[in-house]
Amino acid sequence: YWSVDKDVGNLNDYPQIAQAADLLSKNEVVAFPTETVYGLGGNAKSDEAVLKIFEAKGRPSDNPLIIHIGRVEHIKEFVTEIPEKARILMNEFWPGPLTIILNKKEGTLSDKATAGLSTVAVRMPDHPVALSIINNAGVPIAAPSANRSGKPSPTTAKHVFEDLNERIAGIVDGGPTGVGVESTVIDCTEEIPVILRPGGVTEEQIKKVIGEIHLDPSLIDEEHAPKSPGMKYTHYAPDAPLFLVEGSREYIQQLILEKQKEGKEVGVLTTEENESFYKADFIFTCGKRQDLDSVASSLYEALRSFNHSNVNIIFSEVFPYEGVGQAIMNRLLKAAGHRILSE
Ligand code: TXA
Ligand code: MG
Repeated sequence: YWSVDKDVGNLNDYPQIAQAADLLSKNEVVAFPTETVYGLGGNAKSDEAVLKIFEAKGRPSDNPLIIHIGRVEHIKEFVTEIPEKARILMNEFWPGPLTIILNKKEGTLSDKATAGLSTVAVRMPDHPVALSIINNAGVPIAAPSANRSGKPSPTTAKHVFEDLNERIAGIVDGGPTGVGVESTVIDCTEEIPVILRPGGVTEEQIKKVIGEIHLDPSLIDEEHAPKSPGMKYTHYAPDAPLFLVEGSREYIQQLILEKQKEGKEVGVLTTEENESFYKADFIFTCGKRQDLDSVASSLYEALRSFNHSNVNIIFSEVFPYEGVGQAIMNRLLKAAGHRILSE
């Protein structure tokens, strides 16, 4: 695959970007970095390209894709209207990790990209490589996260390579992504917008600019079916069972010892503040608890790392449900199949 340094010079001079854009315009699928995770892009107007995305990922066809645009005005082409609150959100957070659901203009995008729904999810990513590729391709780009379905989203080109090598036309390597968790998905087709998936833009940030919002009931109580099709699938789980532990690090160390006595190799997901405390077979330090952005940024690398170790069971610390902590806990709960141990 091809590497691009996003911090150097004029990106239009990189042949890799032109090559990726050219492949996209020929309805091939190409992975590229965004500020959240790597995306697997394809021409959103082409059934052929969109089918290739679903096939490469092994993704169920009822799970719609996010449409990525390089300029805000391009959204008019495929949505029926932009409500006032959606416009405010776009002004405030685009380019950035916020995906907005609006009513779709029929006949403008592949129906397979939107899984036959009457709505469409749109975002403008905040990454120079992504923007350059999309603008050079000259079409809206459907792009789910560039992982095999069910795996953690990729935050490096190597993760994409692990999952999708030989299944896609290319990978553009722009280094590790920054945010590390996917965009927040917000449904603006309702009078009071509804967060369907917590992500890089926080509930608190959104409330500050548009006031009252709702959370999809499935985010509060797992008995409810989620409105966002993708949220119902198991996701992110490492091969070994993962347990979230609400309790002190002494309690976690006690759990580790118990499992080791049973002959198991035990993994721990912790943070810089606590890492030296644990004695386990494999320890992954995921940023600093005092800086949840740093935890989000390395969370998927952490979940993937356990599969490269020999652990039979994993214990993870939990995080506050504030700020980006909401997205972190949403992904950790999925990865753990909602298994929580309390002291
Ligand atoms: O940060 C991100 O959002 C990354 C990067 C590549 O942009 N993309 C991403 O896409 O996470 P994906 O496909 O992995 O997740 C898209 C989520 C899914 O849960 C899907 O069900 C939901 O958005 N979605 C898409 N269109 C929708 C719609 N019309 N209504 C409700 N949910 C929708
Ligand atoms: Mg995904």
